[in-house]
Amino acid sequence: MQDKASMAICRQLCRHKVYFAVIGLMLMYILYQAFPCGSAPSIMMVPKEKTKYIYDINQRAIPYDENTPIIFVGGMPRSGTTLMRAMLDAHPEIRCGEETRVIPRILGMRTQWDKSAIEKKRLEEAGVTAEVLDSAVRAFILEIIAKHGSAATHLCNKDPFTLKSTVYLSKQFPQSKYILMIRDGRAVVHSIISRKVTISGFDLKSYRKCLIKWNAALETMYAQCMHVGPHKCMPVYYEQLALHPKEWMERILNFLNIPWNESVLHHEDYVGKPGGIALSKTEKSTDQVIKPVNIEALSKWVGALPDDVVQDMENIAPMLKTLGYDPKANPPNYGQPDPAVADNTIHIKQNADFWRKREMDVLSQGADDQFPQQQQGVGAQQEAAGSDPEKTAPKEEVSER
Ligand SMILES: *[C@@H]1O[C@H](CO)[C@@H](O)[C@H](O)[C@H]1NC(C)=O
Repeated sequence: MQDKASMAICRQLCRHKVYFAVIGLMLMYILYQAFPCGSAPSIMMVPKEKTKYIYDINQRAIPYDENTPIIFVGGMPRSGTTLMRAMLDAHPEIRCGEETRVIPRILGMRTQWDKSAIEKKRLEEAGVTAEVLDSAVRAFILEIIAKHGSAATHLCNKDPFTLKSTVYLSKQFPQSKYILMIRDGRAVVHSIISRKVTISGFDLKSYRKCLIKWNAALETMYAQCMHVGPHKCMPVYYEQLALHPKEWMERILNFLNIPWNESVLHHEDYVGKPGGIALSKTEKSTDQVIKPVNIEALSKWVGALPDDVVQDMENIAPMLKTLGYDPKANPPNYGQPDPAVADNTIHIKQNADFWRKREMDVLSQGADDQFPQQQQGVGAQQEAAGSDPEKTAPKEEVSER
C-alpha cells in the first residue's frame, strides 16, 4: 500500500519536473527570439541614473527625465507666443522662461544630419546612429530646459520655431504637450516688418514675400500639430486668447492637466518676481507682456499693407482661409472682448506714460551690473529698437527647414 502511494507521489513529482523543464526551455527560446545575438554592440552604455533633479527655492527636489510631461509653446514669432508663456509662467507650478535660442538650433542640426545621404552613411559607419544622435539631442534639450530657469513642477519651453519639429519632439518626449499659437498672418507680418524683427529667410522690405513665408511656416507647424493629434497639440488663436483670456486659459490648463489658478489671468503682477515671469531684455516681445492682456494690437495692420497684396491675399496666403480668417475682410471680425479685457485696453490707452515708464523700469532692471557706463542708454536703446537694423544681432531663426 505504502509503496504504491509513494510511487504515485514520485510519478507526480517526475511529471512536474518534466513540465518545469519544458517551460524552462520555452522561456529560453522566447528570450532568444526577443534578444538575438545580432550585430549590435554587445555592451551598451547605460547611465546609472536616468532621472535627474532640480531644486526649488524650498530645496524640494523635482525629478526630470525623458518622460517628464514638458510643455512646448511655439508658432510664428509675433503670434502671442510670449504672452502665452507669460500667462503660463504666472502659474505657481509652471516655469517656461525666456527663449533658449539653442533648442530650435539643435533641432535644425539634427534635421541636417539626416538630410544628406552621404553624411548619414558616414555617421552610421562611425556608429553615430539615429538612436545615438536622438539620445544626445534629447539630453541636450532636457538639460537646457531644466537648468536655464528656476525649478518648477511643470517645465515648459517657448522657442517659436520648435513647433516645426512637433512630430520629432513628441517621439523624443512621449509625454510632452504642444501649444501652437496662431494669429492672423497679416497682423504677424505687419508686426515683423514694423518692428524690424529679423528672421532668416524673411525679406523685411516685402509684405508679399513675408506673407508667403508665414504661410509656409504655418502650413508646416499646423500639419505637425494635426499629425500628433488633439491630445498632444492644441492650436490656440492669439486673437481669442486676448479677447477671452479666462475661457481660453481654462481650456489650456485643462488640456495640460494642470489645476486652475487665477494668477494666469494677472500675469503682469508676476513680472520679475521669484517663481513668476523671468523676462529677457533682448527679446522683442518683452515690452508687451509687461502690460495686462489687452487688444491694442489686434487690427493695427489694417491699412498698412500694399493694395496689390490685399487684393491677392487669398492666393498669397491660403493658410488664412484654412485657419478660419477671412482673407477678404480688412479686418475680419475677431469678436468682442470680455469686459475685463476692454477695461485693460482703455486703461493702457489712458495711462500711456505710466506703461512707458514701467517698460523702461523692467527693461533696465539689473542692467547696472552688466553695463555700468550705459545705464542711461538702456531705455533709449529700447525706445529706438523699432529703428534698430540689428546688423550685429544674430537672426532669430537659424535654419529654414
Ligand atoms: C494659486 O497660486 C497661489 C500662489 O501664486 C497660491 O497661494 C494659491 O493657493 C493658488 N490657488 C489655487 C486655487 O490653487
